[in-house]
Amino acid sequence: MKNKNLWGSRFEKEMDTLVAEFNASIGFDIEFFRQDIRGSIAHVTMLAAQNIVTEKERDLIISGLENIRDRIENGELTFTYKSEDIHMAVEGELIKNIGDVGRKLHTARSRNDQAVTDTKLFLKDKSEEIYELLREFEYNILNKAEENIDRIMPGFTHFQHAQPVTIGFHLMSYFQQFRRDMERLKDYYKRLDYNSLGACALAGTTLSIDRHLTAELLNFSNVTENAMDTVSDRDYVMEFVSFAAMCMVHLSRFSEEFIIWNSQEFAFLDIDDSYCTGSSIMPQKKNPDIAELIRGKAGRAIGNLMTILTVVKGTPMSFNKDFQEDKEVVFDTVRTVRDSVEIFSNMLKHSHFRYDNIERQMDKGFLNATDVAESLVQQGIPFRTAHELVGVLVKYCENNGLKLEEIKQEDLSNIDHRLKNIELKDLDNYSCIMRRNSFGGTSPVEVQRQINAGREFLETEFAMNC
Ligand code: ARG
Repeated sequence: MKNKNLWGSRFEKEMDTLVAEFNASIGFDIEFFRQDIRGSIAHVTMLAAQNIVTEKERDLIISGLENIRDRIENGELTFTYKSEDIHMAVEGELIKNIGDVGRKLHTARSRNDQAVTDTKLFLKDKSEEIYELLREFEYNILNKAEENIDRIMPGFTHFQHAQPVTIGFHLMSYFQQFRRDMERLKDYYKRLDYNSLGACALAGTTLSIDRHLTAELLNFSNVTENAMDTVSDRDYVMEFVSFAAMCMVHLSRFSEEFIIWNSQEFAFLDIDDSYCTGSSIMPQKKNPDIAELIRGKAGRAIGNLMTILTVVKGTPMSFNKDFQEDKEVVFDTVRTVRDSVEIFSNMLKHSHFRYDNIERQMDKGFLNATDVAESLVQQGIPFRTAHELVGVLVKYCENNGLKLEEIKQEDLSNIDHRLKNIELKDLDNYSCIMRRNSFGGTSPVEVQRQINAGREFLETEFAMNC
C-alpha cells in the first residue's frame, strides 16, 4: 500500500506503511480535537488582527474549522494513520473543504507549539474538572466524618491496635491528604496557565504575530517567555502526572482500608452492593472489586510518571519526536485519576460502618495503655518510669487474663511499690477519646474543629481559574 508523503516536494519516496503507522499519533491525539480546533480559531483570529490574513479569509477558515469540529463530534468524520496527527488531520481536511485559503492557517505556527498548546488546553480543562471532583469527594468525607464524630474504633500503628480513635478522626486524616492534593493541583495550574502558541518550531517567527492576543483568546493568563523552552519541556506533563500519582497513592491506601474493613475477619464496613461484584463460581461471594481496581490503577499513574520522566531525560534542546510519547501518558492519567476520584467518592458515600463489630474489637490489645501512663504522669511520675510501670501492668494482665481497668486498686502496690497511692480510673474507650483534645487529636470536640476548618476551606476555596 502506498502512503502519500505529507511533506511535499522535499521527499522522493513514499513512507513505508509500518513506519507511517508507527509514526502516527492520530489514534490517540484525536482525543483533544476540540482543543486543537479552538487553538486554530484563536490563531487565525490573531492573524487577521495583525493583517497577516484578511477578515474574509479568517471567517472562511473559522467556519471551515467549526464544521470539522461538528463532524468529528457527531461521528461523521474519522481519520486514519495516513493523516499522521490531529494537527495534520484538521488542516488537511480544512484545505480539502475550503480550498487554497485553508493553506494560510499554518502561518507563523508549527506543530511543535500546537502540540504543547493542545496539551495545555486539555490539561487546564481536565484539572478544573478533577479539582471540582476532589471538592465533592472532600464534602463526602466531611459528612461521613461528622456522622461518625463520636463512633469509636481502634487506631493502628504497624497494623496493631494502638490507641482508641473515632471513625470521624480516621476519615479526617484522609480529608487532609486530599486537601493537599487539591492545593498541589491548584498550584500546578499557575505554571500550566501559559500560552505556548506562536513559539513556532523553536525560535519564534519573522511575521508580526501577537502572542498576547492569542493568550487572551484562549483564556491563558500568561505567555511563555522563551520559544525554545516552550517547545522543549514537558514539565507541565510531569507535574500533572506527579500530582495524579500522589493522589492515586492516597486513594489506593483508602481502598486498601476499605478492602480490609470489608473482609470477614474485620467486618468493620459494608461496601454497598453497587460497588462490588460476585464470583462466577462461588455464589456467596461479594468482592470489593472497585476498591481493588482503584488500588491497582495507582500502579498505572506511578508507571506513567516513570514513563514521562524517562522519555524527557536524555533529550537535547529543542523539540524531539520522543515527546509525542507524552500524549498517551496524559490521556491515560487524566482518565485514571478522574474516574477513580469520582467512583471512590460515591462508594464512600454509600458504604456503612458496622459499629457492633468494631466495638467488639475494642477490648483487644490494651488500647488504653498510653492513657494509664499519661495518668501516672499527671500523678507526678516521670513518663519513662510510667511507661515501664504500665509495661509491668500489661504483663500482669496478660498473665491473669485481665484488662487494665480490671486490676484491683489494692493489688497495685503489690505489683510494684511505685504504684502505691496511684489510682486507675476512667479507662473506658470513650473517656480515652474525650481526653485526647490536644490540637489535631481525636476527641470529638477537636475533630469538630477540624471538620469546621475543612468545610471553610471547601466553601471559600475557588476553582483555580478564578
Ligand atoms: N504529533 C506530534 C506530537 O504529538 C506533533 C509534533 C510533531 N512535530 C514534528 N516536527 N514532527 O508531538
